[in-house]
Amino acid sequence: MKVGFVGTGWFAKTHASILGEMNGVNVTAFCGTSMEKAEKEARNWSNATGYTNMEEMLDRQKLDAVYICVPPHSHGAIEYALIERNIPFFVEKPLGMNELPNDIVRKIKEKGLITSVGYHWRYKDTTNRVLSLLNECRVGMALGYWMGSMPMVPWWRDVQKSGGQFVEQTTHIVDLLRYLFGDVNEVYAAFNNQIMRSKVEGTTVPDVGSVTMKLKNGMISTISNTCILENYSKVGLDIYTDEGVIELSNDLLRVVKGNKVEEYKEETNPYLTENQIFLDAVQTGDPSKILSNYQDAIKTHKVTMAANDSAATGKPIYLG
Ligand SMILES: NC(=O)c1ccc[n+]([C@@H]2O[C@H](COP(=O)([O-])OP(=O)(O)OC[C@H]3O[C@@H](n4cnc5c(N)ncnc54)[C@H](O)[C@@H]3O)[C@@H](O)[C@H]2O)c1
Repeated sequence: MKVGFVGTGWFAKTHASILGEMNGVNVTAFCGTSMEKAEKEARNWSNATGYTNMEEMLDRQKLDAVYICVPPHSHGAIEYALIERNIPFFVEKPLGMNELPNDIVRKIKEKGLITSVGYHWRYKDTTNRVLSLLNECRVGMALGYWMGSMPMVPWWRDVQKSGGQFVEQTTHIVDLLRYLFGDVNEVYAAFNNQIMRSKVEGTTVPDVGSVTMKLKNGMISTISNTCILENYSKVGLDIYTDEGVIELSNDLLRVVKGNKVEEYKEETNPYLTENQIFLDAVQTGDPSKILSNYQDAIKTHKVTMAANDSAATGKPIYLG
């Protein structure tokens, strides 16, 4: 199986190195914003070529699948070219900015193309355990977090390029909420930026935010984020139930019932699992094991966009 990459940054490298360990998968192409970057990445592989033009890459190589690992503002032409040629793709979250993904998803549905989106929390064994715990209790609310520092790639601090922290990072927790509890129908957000804009030149993203959501199943959730911290990270979702509290964080699940606490460490590599399942779907033509495809991920995209709209207007947004 021949696989190409669009993007030559941190996460393209992460996925490519996972694919490099898989039998029968050959990484053969990298498309970057400069030939220097594309060729540098290609040189790490015995049989890969660098490109700066996506159409040229697709003309010259018959790729079975493509990985899209670019910043939020760079989506669009890449997806359209792949849909046009019926090439299945794995795309890193977030899907893009504003209305663009709504048009992309329409074309994906028309073609019935296999896609997978990098919402890897869905593939964790701890998340799976939470799903079974939820059969034994009634949930009232969930509080989510993405509290950390600012990623220093230049596009991230520019709200026009990244969409801001809620769209770019916290989207994982919004997607986790949707995966566990279903759809969101109302969003109210308050954001501010007072600290990072005086510390890092060019910062236009909010540096703190809280987003309150009503879910279709009646639950309430608030997910907060900040990027003002140094050397501190708290990322996850705490679920408040009539049987106790379930705390799911990056590599640990804590189940608190009265004064009894059970802890489960994450044992799997969810990035490996999502890649195996996607490439297996491409090979067999059966996408049924993919836990996040474009058609589903667009619903998470809409929640994060609604949060931005609500923060800008000061009004709740109804998603219906
Ligand atoms: N799922 C996860 O846990 C996870 C973790 C990290 C990053 N990501 C996502 O992966 C994406 C990329 O993040 P990153 O950390 O690799 O960023 P990065 O800045 O390290 O790399 C992005 C690369 O994309 C290239 N690029 C931009 N536009 C392009 C285009 N039109 N064609 C080809 N290349 C283009 C840039 O030159 C850069 O090399 C982001 O959407 C990010 O949210 C996901």
